[in-house]
Amino acid sequence: MPSSPLSVLPATAATPGTSGDPTWWRQAAVYQIYPRSFYDANADGLGDIRGITAKVPYLKELGVDAVWLSPFYPSELADGGYDVADYRNVDPRLGTLEDFDEMAASLHGGGMKLIVDIVPNHSSDQHAWFQEALAAEPGSPARARYIFRDGQGTNGELPPSDWTSIFGGPAWTQVPDGQWYLHLFASEQPDFNWDNREIRDDFLRTLRFWSDRGVDGFRIDVAHALMKDLSEPLPSQAELERLEKLHNGTNPLWDRDDVHGIYAEWRTLFNEYNPPRTAVAEAWVDPTRRARYASPAGLGQAFNFDLLMADFDAASFEGIVTKNLAEAQATGASSTWVFSNHDVVRHATRYGLPRLVAGADCGADPDDGITQDGISQDGKAWLLAGGPEAELDRELGLRRARAATLFMLGLPGSAYLYQGEELGLHEVADIPAAERQDPTFFRNAGVEVGRDGCRVPLPWTPARPAFGFGDVQAHLPQPEWFAGAAASAQDTDPVSTLNLYRKALGLRRSLQSGETLEWVPNANPTVLHFVRPNGWTVVTNFGDADADLPEGAVVLASVPLEDGLLPAAATAWLVQP
Ligand code: GLC
Repeated sequence: MPSSPLSVLPATAATPGTSGDPTWWRQAAVYQIYPRSFYDANADGLGDIRGITAKVPYLKELGVDAVWLSPFYPSELADGGYDVADYRNVDPRLGTLEDFDEMAASLHGGGMKLIVDIVPNHSSDQHAWFQEALAAEPGSPARARYIFRDGQGTNGELPPSDWTSIFGGPAWTQVPDGQWYLHLFASEQPDFNWDNREIRDDFLRTLRFWSDRGVDGFRIDVAHALMKDLSEPLPSQAELERLEKLHNGTNPLWDRDDVHGIYAEWRTLFNEYNPPRTAVAEAWVDPTRRARYASPAGLGQAFNFDLLMADFDAASFEGIVTKNLAEAQATGASSTWVFSNHDVVRHATRYGLPRLVAGADCGADPDDGITQDGISQDGKAWLLAGGPEAELDRELGLRRARAATLFMLGLPGSAYLYQGEELGLHEVADIPAAERQDPTFFRNAGVEVGRDGCRVPLPWTPARPAFGFGDVQAHLPQPEWFAGAAASAQDTDPVSTLNLYRKALGLRRSLQSGETLEWVPNANPTVLHFVRPNGWTVVTNFGDADADLPEGAVVLASVPLEDGLLPAAATAWLVQP
């Protein structure tokens, strides 16, 4: 394995509150918090920073190594906070910088690291720079911070190209003086012009700002979009889509080779800290291109969403794990694993739908265009219909999710968990149109149902009005079945999903060893069996019938075991005496 530059420590003093181990991230269990839906400490229906601080004991007991916060910055919430109006502040509805410092100190005091989300591709249209750009003349330096163009047609009345945005609808919006600006996402999210040195310097300032406050790492939003080639004539949407399939770094909008110059600069900054700040790229790119983002000379780690997009299937899981471990070894990064996040249908639900996930349906084949929700057409139809219960096998979905999670937590590398999965939560499907918030829903006239269903505020207790999330109604409607899933209801139940996660994370810490695994051949094609260097053994039964267990002492299982057999859709961890 190539040596990581992270092992070359700079001579600066460690930032107070962070520990000096530069490798902490390599096998960390990272818990993603979507702050507005985690815990509402000030009774306004919106989760907040003090709410996170209040739940530090819960996170500590859960046993995670780090917490990643989705954006908590000032935002008009056109895209759940991924439309940032001020990169170096806290949304006043969520708290203050002092609250942030208190939360960081509390997490560090509890032995946890803190990762924050950085959204560099676009700002909010409420950002001071975009407001300045709107007030300024075409061709002015203020407009050059974003991507403004004249339109086509006799009077510039047509957009500069026919590009569509990721959330649906056109990717260009016209401003009153007739010019158009580019937004790959919602129209409230104008794209920055990364050819402009001022943008680069400002983001360096932002990274330094949070690093100086003791932030340990960064999650980089749509890391593959920043650099663009907008030379005229602009290609058509059809041509863009054709070019996307080439995966050769020359697509005008996505995954361009020149984006890595930005991350090389960021790495230099990260390495000025002790320990160096870490980063993980959110880059929905062809797997063959991922290593560039995970390079130690760049961000250092990149999400792979392969397991998230796979069926609950032994052969698929084995292939994905083998490929990603080899890839990580080749770059010097460690692999990342994830089943759920704020953009996709929760995995307990995906695994309980009639036709699961992935395959050609969801575009897991990158040449079909990778989709971000990891769900089949059947799944989409189910969500659109408000999720009729008859079609979702809740029990099977959760059973498979528990098995898949134990499989993942046994793997070498970092495991990213999403708030609420430790409660075994399902997607909330029946959110009335009038209460939906996701721009995907609105920009598609409801054809894409959007991501609100995995962002519903957490149930902490069975009590109304908000299941312990806060003292008033939550900002998204919570379903009745949340009462049974509440953290307090699971706390003392030894076989609850919450206690399964607690036990698994605790054991994972003590059993963790090396960054490799060895597959043990199995006559049963629906069973996967691997062993870590210290003998820690993980066996998952993806099939429908009981399977044999190997030698060893079972230390944890996703379901109760009977007669020394591993039941269908279950995982067991064993150690060798
Ligand atoms: C990323 C985020 C997603 C957001 C988008 C635009 O994919 O995870 O939530 O909508 O970027 O910022």
